[in-house]
Amino acid sequence: MRAVVLRETGGPEVLVPAEVPVPSPGPGQVLLRVEAAAVSAGETRMRSGAIPMPFPLPVVFGAEAVGVVEAVGPGVEPAVRDRRFVGVTGGRGSYAEFAVANLAMLAAVPDGLEPTDVVAMAAPGAMAFGLARKAGLGTGETALIEGGSGKIGNYLVPLAGRSARVVATAGTAPGRDRVRALGAEVVLDHSTPDWPDRLPGKVDVVFEMVGGAVADRLLDVLTPGTGRMLVYGSLSGAPTALDAAKLRERGLRVIGCGGPGWAADIFGVDLPGFLAAAARGEVARPVIEAVLPLADAAEAHRRLEAGRLVGRVVLVP
Ligand SMILES: NC(=O)c1ccc[n+]([C@@H]2O[C@H](COP(=O)([O-])OP(=O)(O)OC[C@H]3O[C@@H](n4cnc5c(N)ncnc54)[C@H](OP(=O)(O)O)[C@@H]3O)[C@@H](O)[C@H]2O)c1
Repeated sequence: MRAVVLRETGGPEVLVPAEVPVPSPGPGQVLLRVEAAAVSAGETRMRSGAIPMPFPLPVVFGAEAVGVVEAVGPGVEPAVRDRRFVGVTGGRGSYAEFAVANLAMLAAVPDGLEPTDVVAMAAPGAMAFGLARKAGLGTGETALIEGGSGKIGNYLVPLAGRSARVVATAGTAPGRDRVRALGAEVVLDHSTPDWPDRLPGKVDVVFEMVGGAVADRLLDVLTPGTGRMLVYGSLSGAPTALDAAKLRERGLRVIGCGGPGWAADIFGVDLPGFLAAAARGEVARPVIEAVLPLADAAEAHRRLEAGRLVGRVVLVP
């Protein structure tokens, strides 16, 4: 089969098209005939060596895929054959004509959704559903969404807005316009470090993914007694140091969104829920920057690294 292989870490050019054997599904796995694979910023960092490569090289690269089940491994119901699934392939293997994936990390795609749309929206959409579920936003509460202009924000802003008043941030004027259009009532520019000073009062939930000093500063804007902070990223790369005394004295909760159980819930609960909502037309449209042939994986990585892409780059075999 055709695939894109990574033999060493480095610039985008280390992603090389090659002929490789079709993989065999192991226990609990299926073989997908890949229809589309989405490229992520995490993959560009892994390819470049900025974050550790969790598997030995060479490897067929890529993590997110949508495709039709061609074969099933031991312990998997044959009934799933010929059905379309979307999800992740365990960090490798999706930049290819065929890929194996654990069925537990996939969800069936409802009829009526385009494969390229589905692969673009599945991971950020499921994350948004998972974050909203964990936050348990009540009617009339106020949510602060950092990076409302990002891929997760595209789904989280309207979702939170169903019950809560949304305050969101974006670093560019077009991003702020988009976040407003998604339903945020107050939109702040996070490009200056003092942006929390411009918040319009206390908030009940902070969706935190920046890290560094801003995370601790945002504890100050949470409602004492009921306020909660969901920590799901550290975009700034700076360590997050939260003052435990603030948590104790103000009765605040910090909820870590990662680790054991998180992925199982995201793929087992939130992804099916998100896809069902997408099929009913209840979620935001995915933003797709480009759909490129599989052999252009290096170009896809170049585009992600070149700048602030709003939407996703998708590869099709
Ligand atoms: N825990 C998990 O399982 C999990 C899974 C997936 C992703 N994540 C994390 O979720 C975060 C968002 O992912 P994404 O896919 O939505 O990313 P994305 O599409 O790259 O968007 C990043 C967002 O962050 C904003 N941003 C950049 N610098 C900022 C700053 N200093 N303060 C506030 N916002 C800032 C960007 O705004 P502008 O471009 O408008 O400046 C943009 O809205 C990342 O940190 C990622 O690592 C966690």
